[in-house]
Parts: sequence; structure tokens; C-alpha cells
Amino acid sequence: MNYKVPDQSGKVFVVTGANTGIGRVTALELARAGAKRVILACRSQERTQPVLDEITEIYGGDAERVGFLALDLGDFESVRQCVATYGEVYGDERVDVLINNAGLAGKKGLTRQGFEMAFGVNHLGPFLFTLLMWEHLADDARIVNVASRAHKRVDGIDFDVVREEAKTPTGFPEYSVSKLANVLFSRELARRAKGTGKRSYALHPGVVASDVWREVPGVVRWVVKRFMITNEEGAMTTLYCATSEAASGQSGKYYSECKEKAPAKCGQDDALARELWDRSVSWVGVEVPEELG
Ligand SMILES: NC(=O)c1ccc[n+]([C@@H]2O[C@H](COP(=O)([O-])OP(=O)(O)OC[C@H]3O[C@@H](n4cnc5c(N)ncnc54)[C@H](OP(=O)(O)O)[C@@H]3O)[C@@H](O)[C@H]2O)c1
Repeated sequence: MNYKVPDQSGKVFVVTGANTGIGRVTALELARAGAKRVILACRSQERTQPVLDEITEIYGGDAERVGFLALDLGDFESVRQCVATYGEVYGDERVDVLINNAGLAGKKGLTRQGFEMAFGVNHLGPFLFTLLMWEHLADDARIVNVASRAHKRVDGIDFDVVREEAKTPTGFPEYSVSKLANVLFSRELARRAKGTGKRSYALHPGVVASDVWREVPGVVRWVVKRFMITNEEGAMTTLYCATSEAASGQSGKYYSECKEKAPAKCGQDDALARELWDRSVSWVGVEVPEELG
């Protein structure tokens, strides 16, 4: 699997969680492919600065072509502020590809508005971000949702449990539910956006030796990371969904190793996808864009 990103001149990208891991490589490769602008939406400007510097260097010192937006997906207010800042800074500039990459695993606790951490950060934050960014997206924009094959480890979503702190020792079942939510959101978004020109993709990046394992105990982490693929390899399927000609006519599908694959049965459950959508709308308190009504 070695996907080569075609020329991206003229295209504007927003990548969440791009200060490290798969997101960092994704942003760097898009800049190398000549993107007009790459905007990194991350929690900390300080932690993102080295990547902003790397991209500026790729652009021959033209810092205007790389942007930073402060975004904490665990706080709806931060998500709203982030989109407002996008409007203030970039005005009418349309985003060609929105990459919902940021995510966490195994972290206990609740988000600012009281949702289980993985569900809140991995699903509700990106859900709100995507719907608020809708007015800033190009007519033929792609929305790329970095999910995981971990979604296959669960068979549904308990909508009461996602309002409580994770109960399992690893937090992995809760993570898997949040990744199922990514697959279902992407599917429902595609169904609603049908006929608009905007397309939605969900993907599994591979099992990648990134920082996502930071909450796993040290020795275990060291052992498992030795069997994982690199961040460079892990970014391939995201880049494929974001830029490939082959995927351009598709929407609502799930990918792994730069190929369309079948998601789990529960990832194809349209009734569950609709229920998740409706509950998410009321939880985040967003007005659904008319196109998606
Ligand atoms: N690594 C794997 O094997 C694997 C497998 C399947 C799917 N994935 C998915 O791939 C995506 C990228 O993960 P990765 O492996 O590259 O992990 P990573 O190296 O840990 O990067 C995760 C990114 O998400 C950001 N993030 C975490 N919490 C956030 C929040 N509340 N608000 C905004 N950003 C937040 C992190 O920012 P900070 O640095 O500030 O924390 C970081 O930039 C995730 O969605 C993950 O679920 C990964």
C-alpha cells in the first residue's frame, strides 16, 4: 500500500489533531502535494508549532499557506469558537477537504458537557464541527472521518452509557463505540448530503504506532508498538479518501488499506445511524444545515 497523492494545487484542507501521529503526516503530505492551504485544528498551538514550521518550510517560507485553529473537541464551546475563528480569518475561502482525524483512546472521565470521554471527543465534537463548518465547505467538498476497525468489536450504542464515565479497565470498548459512531455518522451524512456534491468517507488507518496508545501501560505499549505500522503508512488511507480520483465518485463508504471494505453489520445499520444523528443534534444543540435537513 503506497498511495501517491496527486497534485493538490488550489485545494484547501482542514485537518484536526494534526500536531502528531497520523494527522501530522497527513498535513505534511498535503502540503508536499502543493495544497493551496493546510489548516491544522488542534488543542495546543505550542504543540502544533513544530508542525506549522515544517509545513512552512515545505512552502518555501510562505507561512500564509499554513494555518492554526484552536480546537478542543471535548468542549462544544471550543468547537463553536473554532468555526467562528475560521470565518473571521479565512472569510469566504471554501474548504475542499475536512479531515476529522483527532481522537483519543483509553482516557477516563467526562467531556466538558458531560459525555463519556471517547464518545464526546471522537464523535460529538467532530459531529458539531462538521455541521458548523458546512457553510464553509466547497460545493464538492469531501469530509473524511478517521474511524477504526475497532468499531467491529461492538454491536451497537447504548445511548445511556455514553453519558457516563467509562467503566471498563482499558476504556477500549468505549473507544470502539465511539469509532462505530464515526462509521455511522459518515454513512448518515452521505445519505443526507446525496445530490449536494459533498461526499463523506470513513476509514481504518491500520494499527499505527502513534501517540494514541499513550494511556496504555508502558511495557505493554512498548511491546505492542513494535508490531504496528508507521504514521507514514497510517496516513495513506486518509490521503486516499481525501484526494484520490478513484474515490471521488463514492460517498458513505468505509475504507482500509486504500480500498473500499465492508464495515461491520452494525456499521451498516441505517436505523441506528439515524438515531445517532438525531440524538447528536439534540445533544450538541446545532441547527442542521438546510442541505442536510
Ligand atoms: N493509531 C492507531 O492504531 C489507530 C487505529 C485506528 C484508528 N485510529 C484513529 O486515528 C486517529 C488519529 O490518531 P493517532 O493514532 O494519530 O493518535 P495520536 O498520535 O494520539 O493523535 C491524536 C490527535 O488527536 C488530538 N486530540 C485528542 N484529544 C483531542 C481533543 N479533545 N480535541 C482536539 N484534538 C484532540 C491529539 O491532540 P493532543 O496531542 O493535543 O492530545 C492528537 O493531535 C484517531 O481518530 C484514532 O482513533 C488510530
